[in-house]
Amino acid sequence: MRNSGSESMFEPREFIEQQIHELSGVEGKAVVGCSGGVDSTVAAVLVGKAMGPRLLAIYVDTGYMRKGESEQIENLLTEMGINHRMVDCGDEFYRAMEGIQEPEEKRKVIGNKFIEIFEREAEEFGADHLVQGTIAPDWIESGDGVRDTIKSHHNVGGLPDVMKLELIEPLRDLYKDEVRSVARELGLPTSERQPFPGPGLAIRVIGEASRERTEMVREACAIVEEEIDRAVDRGKMERPWQYFAVLLPVRTVGVQGDKRAYGYTVAVRAVGSLDAMSARFSEIPLDVLETISTRITNTMKNKVNRVVYDITDKPPGTIEWE
Ligand code: XMP
Repeated sequence: MRNSGSESMFEPREFIEQQIHELSGVEGKAVVGCSGGVDSTVAAVLVGKAMGPRLLAIYVDTGYMRKGESEQIENLLTEMGINHRMVDCGDEFYRAMEGIQEPEEKRKVIGNKFIEIFEREAEEFGADHLVQGTIAPDWIESGDGVRDTIKSHHNVGGLPDVMKLELIEPLRDLYKDEVRSVARELGLPTSERQPFPGPGLAIRVIGEASRERTEMVREACAIVEEEIDRAVDRGKMERPWQYFAVLLPVRTVGVQGDKRAYGYTVAVRAVGSLDAMSARFSEIPLDVLETISTRITNTMKNKVNRVVYDITDKPPGTIEWE
């Protein structure tokens, strides 16, 4: 383990060479769950370089992906020449999540479903290994004998007791900034992409992550991303480490036209961080927040009538709300 901010000690090229050398010794076939995020993509490319067509990248569309994400990922995998398969599983996930409210239970249900689908696909491919993009904060925060459980991260807490596949976790000892430097060294276009949690939008819908509520948060997240990207491009603010929307189950009274409304609340979250172990809320210009609020309430008239901004650091908060 290292202190945050020690990227200068880390040699990405050396790391890549060493990993490819070690991974070349792995026998048989492997599958990797590719979400398009930096971690899983870097893991897929490293293993792909070592194993070639003996690796299959599986993209599971859980129904909890961001707007336009599946198409972007399919293009990326094709461009990188990674052997891949896209699997549309939205209905299966929404059904599994019916009636589930508790954050840890949501994470575990999603993790288990992921593994179930991987195993199904892996069996068909004839794989005996599962590659995961687990990084150091994932297992440290999952109580792997170091600290108490804060949240069961998707890559760790969701694993069933009996795994049929042997795990390969090439990024297990790296922190986020180190993974980004490896991504840059590999020439991946994902190197500057903001992190996105394994369970996806499911943990940005507080309470039950139904299809309808997920569609609301998907729209809100897209608006937050677009408006903050626009403000960054215009030089109005620095790009935060992460910026997104959270749909709260709280309904409040508002006014729509001249009628009483009773709609949901969206919280906007934007933080600066180095390695996600700690974070500070970002100071977003008020006019940018105002545009975000107006766009969200206009796009989701009669559904969302209140937008709030989260000004909590980590600690005491975490970056995600669940
Ligand atoms: P928290 O919310 O714990 O998040 O402050 C720290 C960073 O991790 C991301 N995150 C996850 N990443 N699987 C992941 O791969 C997960 O289950 C998961 N949960 C949170 C979060 O978005 C932030 O960047």
